[in-house]
Amino acid sequence: MKIVVLAGGRSTERNVSLSSSAKVANALRRKGYEVALVDLFLGLPDATDSQLNALFTSEEQAIDLNISDEIMTDDVINALRPDGSTQLFGPNVLKIAGLADIVWIGLHGGDGENGKVQAVLDLNNIAYTGSGPLASGITMDKSVSKQIMLYNGIQTARFINLNRADAANVTLPFEFPVVIKPANGGSSVGMYISKDEASFKADLAAAFEFDDDVVIEEYIKGREFSMAVVNGRALSAIEIIVNDGWYDFEHKFVSGNTTQFVTPPDIPEAVHDEMKQIALKTFKALGLSNYGRIDFFWNDNGLYVIEGNSLPGMTPLSLMPQEAEADGISYEDLCDSIVQGQVKQLGLSI
Ligand SMILES: Nc1ncnc2c1ncn2[C@@H]1O[C@H](COP(=O)(O)OP(=O)(O)O)[C@@H](O)[C@H]1O
Ligand SMILES: [Mg+2]
Repeated sequence: MKIVVLAGGRSTERNVSLSSSAKVANALRRKGYEVALVDLFLGLPDATDSQLNALFTSEEQAIDLNISDEIMTDDVINALRPDGSTQLFGPNVLKIAGLADIVWIGLHGGDGENGKVQAVLDLNNIAYTGSGPLASGITMDKSVSKQIMLYNGIQTARFINLNRADAANVTLPFEFPVVIKPANGGSSVGMYISKDEASFKADLAAAFEFDDDVVIEEYIKGREFSMAVVNGRALSAIEIIVNDGWYDFEHKFVSGNTTQFVTPPDIPEAVHDEMKQIALKTFKALGLSNYGRIDFFWNDNGLYVIEGNSLPGMTPLSLMPQEAEADGISYEDLCDSIVQGQVKQLGLSI
């Protein structure tokens, strides 16, 4: 079976995607798949059909583990393309994707996560892992996804939506502190926790630098958990314990040792079971398929869903691979089961 692992693209998380996708590609090769790792943005200029075909291999490839810490702005990424063109799909990407039985979406953030790449693949009759365009778009939008949670009786932090045009007169229906998030953000970028009216105005202006719409939430004090759903089954939760501050960009990607991950978590079995039920219910309500991750807070008021993620991270230190490990599922088996689950779900005859 032939798989294209689609990586890189044009997002600030481009380098993380390239590195983790190389690991996914090798894991799938160890499982016997013929895999080609393809950079969505750079593509494969001037490759002939037989050269494209020759890129599929079940031999493991060397991985460059040096993730560059250069800030990947659009300008920096655009400059990587020799001909100066800026369309997201690089040369021959759709062609090689069409030669595969299924595409593994190894992108992170931005256009890999919001459903647009998935829509292009749909329109070209190319099968891929993970969720479709609509569920991806809904899950990426914190305002829309929280409205769907409310409609389905899923507890989430109280919130209001605010458009830039209405920012002058805001009346908050809850007390400080509040959390301000760009509606279509990720990786905690552009998020602010305002402790009082004085900092609120400046924080709001800063959040509007990232998006025309923001979500303002009541601050939830509680323990934080994350739970992956793979092929209709909720894995063991993982607890995220941040020793200083909150789970911001630095804690997610930089200062790894100040954050502790515990799986399976030290919580009553009944709470763990309820979290599994809510994770499955949220997954379904958001329209997700194949795999995804639901994030939670837990306190005396019960479980709150923070958000869903349609493309959970796949570095070996990411949350979902750690949860799988706790359930006795290796990294290779996790990748394999995602592919096999999707092949079955889509009824692909391979
Ligand atoms: N309402 C809230 N109260 C307290 N902390 C929050 C709240 N919402 C988010 N956080 C913290 O901020 C982090 C990032 O928020 P999240 O909504 O998951 O955005 P992102 O898409 O950037 O990951 C969460 O993992 C959590 O630690
Ligand atoms: Mg999050």
